[in-house]
Amino acid sequence: MTVATQLEILDLRHFSARQLRPLIADEARVWKQRLHWDYESSSELLLQYLDSRILPGFVALDRGRLCGFTFCVYEGHKAVVGDAYAVASEPEQALQITDRLLSHLLDLLVHSPDIDRIESQMLLYDAGAIEKSFLETGFTLYPRLFMEYDMPMVPGQVDRMPGQGTRPSLPEYIELAGWTASCYQPAAELIHSSYTNHIDAQINDQYRSLHGSLRFLHNIVRFPGCGVFEATASWVLRDKRTDTLAGMVLCSRVAPEVAHITQICVAEPYRGRGFGRMLLERCMANLAATGFTAITLTVTASNEPAVKLYNDLGFFIKHHFDAMVLEKTRAGITGL
Ligand SMILES: CC(C)(COP(=O)(O)OP(=O)(O)OC[C@H]1O[C@@H](n2cnc3c(N)ncnc32)[C@H](O)[C@@H]1OP(=O)(O)O)[C@@H](O)C(=O)NCCC(=O)NCCS
Repeated sequence: MTVATQLEILDLRHFSARQLRPLIADEARVWKQRLHWDYESSSELLLQYLDSRILPGFVALDRGRLCGFTFCVYEGHKAVVGDAYAVASEPEQALQITDRLLSHLLDLLVHSPDIDRIESQMLLYDAGAIEKSFLETGFTLYPRLFMEYDMPMVPGQVDRMPGQGTRPSLPEYIELAGWTASCYQPAAELIHSSYTNHIDAQINDQYRSLHGSLRFLHNIVRFPGCGVFEATASWVLRDKRTDTLAGMVLCSRVAPEVAHITQICVAEPYRGRGFGRMLLERCMANLAATGFTAITLTVTASNEPAVKLYNDLGFFIKHHFDAMVLEKTRAGITGL
């Protein structure tokens, strides 16, 4: 008998944070080991939500023992699969349990009349590991890359990081400035315009509206879900003639010595002039100077300009994962 047939799948809201804590601690260990991320601040936030018993989701019990969980969050008519994780004696069995949990969650969401879109991006799982239930439900899959840059280990070699000593001069009408709270609105406008007709706006529909872009920014700057915002290495380029933003790079601390680039974009009319490279190099140099040893980021595999930029600056592919999206229409379920 396989593990999957002995499982009981129950409503997550019947379980307390205390009961789920060991599983979440185990997952945090895997995040640290595989992606160098310290999942602790996210775990604490998740535990608070679990205790308020409002997260829709499921747990798996194997002969009465909690061995897995999954949940989603609602954003209006959209559901985002937040996480799915299971433990078992064999990795293959853990994936089977994760798949069973996801299949229950997707079934719930597909049959929820108020939900018209479901998004999922679980960075922890290699491409192909957990896609079965998504593909059976009709999701469209977008291959993505988790990339990493490791700082030179010898302090003197920081000088040899990309761009050191060769900083391009900006046109006099472009000003480089640090992130401040006054950037929210122009930065949301920049994100919204930068991702028009962009594949990432199919993966994350927040990019498709100004309101959504503002919400995205608040999420990464104010809340610890994707690390703690690192204002000292987050930069904007302002066009003084129009008082609009031409580009920006934002990053967060995801572990004591690891940073994650949460956003980099340059407005269309300013592209191909070295601004993207300059922003990223400036951010990398700040991070090196303040003791960070590694930088991570995620990028859609087909986003060639971005992937080339990251490769050129010394980022390497640490692993491949998939984003999954399902759009429901009145006529039924569609891919995008
Ligand atoms: C990715 C992005 C930030 C690059 O900004 P940019 O200012 O145009 O980039 P740069 O002019 O500094 O170019 C730097 C390098 O990027 C690569 N690049 C830039 N545009 C490119 C293009 N159209 N095709 C292929 N490579 C390109 C090249 O490697 C280039 O180096 P080179 O000048 O030696 O050829 C910009 O295209 C953008 O904002 N895209 C939309 C948002 C986005 O995809 N963000 C990344 C999400 S992960």
